[in-house]
Amino acid sequence: MVSINSSSRVVILTGAGVSAESGVRTFRDNDGLWEDHRVEDVATPHAWVNDQRLVWRFYQERRRQLLSVDPNPGHLAIAKLEQYLGESFTLITQNVDDLHERGGSKNVIHMHGELAKLRCEMCNHVGVYQGQNHYDREFIPCSDCGHETLRPHIVWFGEIPFEMAKIQEAVSTCEVFISIGTSGHVYPAAGLIEIAKSNAARCIGVNLEPPLNARYFDEFFQGKAGEILPQLVQKWIS
Ligand code: OAD
Repeated sequence: MVSINSSSRVVILTGAGVSAESGVRTFRDNDGLWEDHRVEDVATPHAWVNDQRLVWRFYQERRRQLLSVDPNPGHLAIAKLEQYLGESFTLITQNVDDLHERGGSKNVIHMHGELAKLRCEMCNHVGVYQGQNHYDREFIPCSDCGHETLRPHIVWFGEIPFEMAKIQEAVSTCEVFISIGTSGHVYPAAGLIEIAKSNAARCIGVNLEPPLNARYFDEFFQGKAGEILPQLVQKWIS
């Protein structure tokens, strides 16, 4: 078994599977549909230009859903590991929900953006617009430049994920890389494990089913993150 001590440099990459037990639907478990929409109808820059109202309503619905979900034991276990490892721990998530933060994680890299934030395409203002009074609104203007329609602060298909330099640095220097609840379909996230592996990191997977990049795992734990992670983390830190 891969061992972790209090000075191990550990990177965790999470995907939709870690939030599944909280009631947030994953992307690829529903016949290619995401909450009944084809992804290209709601998660591309083209979709935003083509039908702002549809994209806005879709993300307002996702934002509103945050009010009715809570972190699960998987999120809590990851926060516990961060507490144990401190500075030598990096959490990278593809998830746009805020369940890691609400589960106690302090430093979270949201490589695909955050539902709670909106961004102005005119002046680049990024702000937190969270809570029922924002989630019910039909468009929100920019508080800095007055542009009428802020966009979701989400990385859509064809756009470059956030904080790639920081991610590259952490992944290429880690000793242990742990992939949790992600199918390995979407790059560059799916390729991070290759970078870790080629820099001699030990690689661990926790997933309901083997993901596409499972060949890189030194250890694979198949099952639900919320059931497996609390036990694993307890083992690592004791
Ligand atoms: P996917 O929906 O592609 O994959 C979720 C993975 O989690 C699958 O492999 C499931 O088997 C697994 N899973 C489901 N429930 C689980 C559980 N309880 N415990 C552990 N694993 C579980 O989601 P992602 O890989 O996160 O991008 O998708 C990556 C990106 O594709 C997303 O960030 C999103 C999407 O397009 C953007 O929005 C830019």
